[in-house]
Amino acid sequence: MRNILITGGAGFIGSHVVRQFLNDFPEDRIVNLDALTYAGNLENLKDIEHNPQYTFEHADIQDLDTLRTIFSRYQISHVVHLAAESHVDRSITDPLAFVKTNVLGTTNLLQAAKEYWSADFKDKLFYHVSTDEVYGSLGDTGYFYEDTAYDPRSPYSASKASSDHFVRAYYHTYGLPIVISNCSNNYGPNHFPEKLIPLMINNIIHKKPLPVYGEGLNVRDWLYVIDHARAISTIFAKGQTGETYNIGGHNEWTNIDLVHVLCDTMDEKLGRQKGESRSLITYVKDRAGHDLRYAIDATKLQNELGWVPSLQFEEGLRQTIDWFLANSNWLENVTSGAYKDYYKQAYEG
Ligand code: NAD
Ligand code: DAU
Repeated sequence: MRNILITGGAGFIGSHVVRQFLNDFPEDRIVNLDALTYAGNLENLKDIEHNPQYTFEHADIQDLDTLRTIFSRYQISHVVHLAAESHVDRSITDPLAFVKTNVLGTTNLLQAAKEYWSADFKDKLFYHVSTDEVYGSLGDTGYFYEDTAYDPRSPYSASKASSDHFVRAYYHTYGLPIVISNCSNNYGPNHFPEKLIPLMINNIIHKKPLPVYGEGLNVRDWLYVIDHARAISTIFAKGQTGETYNIGGHNEWTNIDLVHVLCDTMDEKLGRQKGESRSLITYVKDRAGHDLRYAIDATKLQNELGWVPSLQFEEGLRQTIDWFLANSNWLENVTSGAYKDYYKQAYEG
C-alpha cells in the first residue's frame, strides 16, 4: 500500500484528482492536505469523504513543522502537489501571497519529503502540478513544448515558474524523484466562479454584465478538468522520473468566441431569446500584462504514455453548463461564502 499525499485536494482540480486516484489506485491511501483558503471547498468531495481509503488534513504548506508531522504520521511515500494560489488577477493585487504559498510552500513540501525519504528514495515520488503560463505568451502561431524556455510574465506565473525550478533543483541536487506536468486552462464542474467560464455562467444565470477584458481576443487552450485528472493519474503511474510532460487539449478559443458560445448555449437551455445573454457582454479594462495566447503541444504525453483527451469541447462545455445549472446550491454557497461552514459541520460537529 502506498500513502499518497495530495495537496490542494479541496480545490477545483485537486478534488477531481482525489476522486480519480481513489478510483484508479484502490489499494492506496489518499491523504488530502488543504488549508481551505477561499478556493478550498470540502463540499467538492462530499461523495467520497467517508471512503475508508481517504483522510483529510487541514494544514498549510507554509508550515514546515506541520508538514514534517504529516509525512511521518501517514508514512507518506508519494506526493501529488496541487495546492497553490491560482488566480492571475489576485496575483496582480497581492503578489506576496503567491510567493508564500507557491514558492515557499512548495519548497517546504520538497524539504519535508527530502528529510522524510532521505534514507531511501526508492519507490518514492514527488509529482508537481504546474501550468503552461510558465512559458510566457505566444504570438499568433507556435506551441509550448516541454523544452520551451521559461518566460513568466505575471506574479502568478513567476511564482509557479519559481516552484518548478525548486522542484528540479531538488532532483538535480539531492536526487529527489520528481515529475512535473504543465497544463493549459481547465474547465468543468466545481470551477471557482472567479475564473472566466464559471464567472460567465454565473453572471448569465443572474443576468449580470459579462466582463470581457480588453478586446476579448486573447486565446486560451481549454481542457476538461477530468481529462487533466486522467493525465495526472497516467503520469503518476507511468511517467519517467525527472521528466516534464505538457498537457493540453489542442482546443484554442479567443475569449470573445468562447463567451458567445456560452451565451448562446445558455439562452437555449434557459429558454431565453437568442441573443439575450450576448447583450450582457461588457468590454472592460484589460488585465495588466495580459498574456496574448497559450497553446500546448501534448505530443510527448500522447506518444510516450498514451494519454489523449476524452471529450470534445462542445460536449464538455454542455456537461459543465448542465452541472452548474443542476448544482445551483453549490454556486450559491460559493458566491455567498456559506461553503465555509461546511468544514465546521463536517469536521468539527
Ligand atoms: P484552486 O485555486 O481551485 O485550488 C487551490 C487549492 O489549494 C484550494 O483547495 C486551496 O485551499 C489550497 N491551498 C491554497 N493555498 C494553500 C496552502 N498555503 N496550503 C495548503 N493548501 C492551500 O486551484 P486549481 O485551479 O484547482 O489549481 C490546482 C493546481 O493546478 C495549481 O497548482 C495550479 O497552478 C495548477 N493549474 C491550474 C490550471 C487551471 O486552469 N485552473 C491549469 C494548469 C495548472
Ligand atoms: O493556463 C493555465 C492557467 O489558466 C492556470 O495556471 C491558472 O491557474 C488559471 O486561472 C488559468 O489562468 P487564466 O488567466 O488564463 O484564466 P482566467 O479564467 O482568469 O482567464 C481566462 C481568460 O479570460 C484570460 O485571457 C482573461 C480573460 N478574462 C478573465 C476573467 C476572469 C476575461 O476576459 N474576463 C474575466 O472576467
